[in-house]
Amino acid sequence: MIIQSNYGEVSQFLMGKEINGNVLYSMAVYYVDGLLIDTGPKTVMKEARSIFQDIQVEKVVNTHHHEDHIGNNLYFQEKGIPIFAHELAVPLINDPSQWIPRLLDYQKLVWGTPPSSISSPLGDSIEGNNYRFKVIHTPGHSPDHISLLEEKNGWLFTGDMFLGEKVKLMRSDEDVHLSMVSLTKLLDYEFDTIFCCSGRVFDNAKQRVNDKLSWWQGLYQQIVQMVEQGYDTTVIRDKLLGEENAFAQLTGGDISKLNLIRSFLSSLPTE
Ligand SMILES: [Fe+2]
Repeated sequence: MIIQSNYGEVSQFLMGKEINGNVLYSMAVYYVDGLLIDTGPKTVMKEARSIFQDIQVEKVVNTHHHEDHIGNNLYFQEKGIPIFAHELAVPLINDPSQWIPRLLDYQKLVWGTPPSSISSPLGDSIEGNNYRFKVIHTPGHSPDHISLLEEKNGWLFTGDMFLGEKVKLMRSDEDVHLSMVSLTKLLDYEFDTIFCCSGRVFDNAKQRVNDKLSWWQGLYQQIVQMVEQGYDTTVIRDKLLGEENAFAQLTGGDISKLNLIRSFLSSLPTE
């Protein structure tokens, strides 16, 4: 399934594999000003290729190396279109065999295993046809994650790092503290609209980043208090976030509320 939506000069392509008539874990790539931001999962390759034929892509930018963001890079490489990513992402995109063995069954089923492709490191900015996009390193979701800011239009492309104001779920390999540092860094810039790889587009975006940061800071304080009172991790989760939803079960615990609590706790002394 691929659904196109247009937001002025920005086109969104929401992509996801249909399984028994349902689309799980869809993600969005964006086309703007000659740039394609991410290429989607390999599991939608056939449909994606027919759609990519109709857009004039000059450069590809991968927000990070995850399999749902780089799965169709090869299509562009074969056409001689350059692919860019953060310097930490480049070796992981160019040689996915470094991390593919760690993919879980749900990831392989829904997004597939991406072929290797040749990417080059981004500088501080990247030029589109008419605009310059500032590259902001925003680790947390993954160490190699970047966001792209176009200041004239107030566009901020945040890959998988924003998602919403009250995010309760986290992958097992995410670092919430680094994500909070990245959110704080974004507040140094001016922007109006967030284009998120979840497929959601947020206006009044700077306020929303502030709200997300405040909510996580408040949650962290509550977690610290409950740890001091002797509660264990699952009780803290149940009291502050509620019990797990279907995501935890479908992903074998790889995307869960417990992971968010654990990531918060990782900064506390273990004694
Ligand atoms: Fe991701």
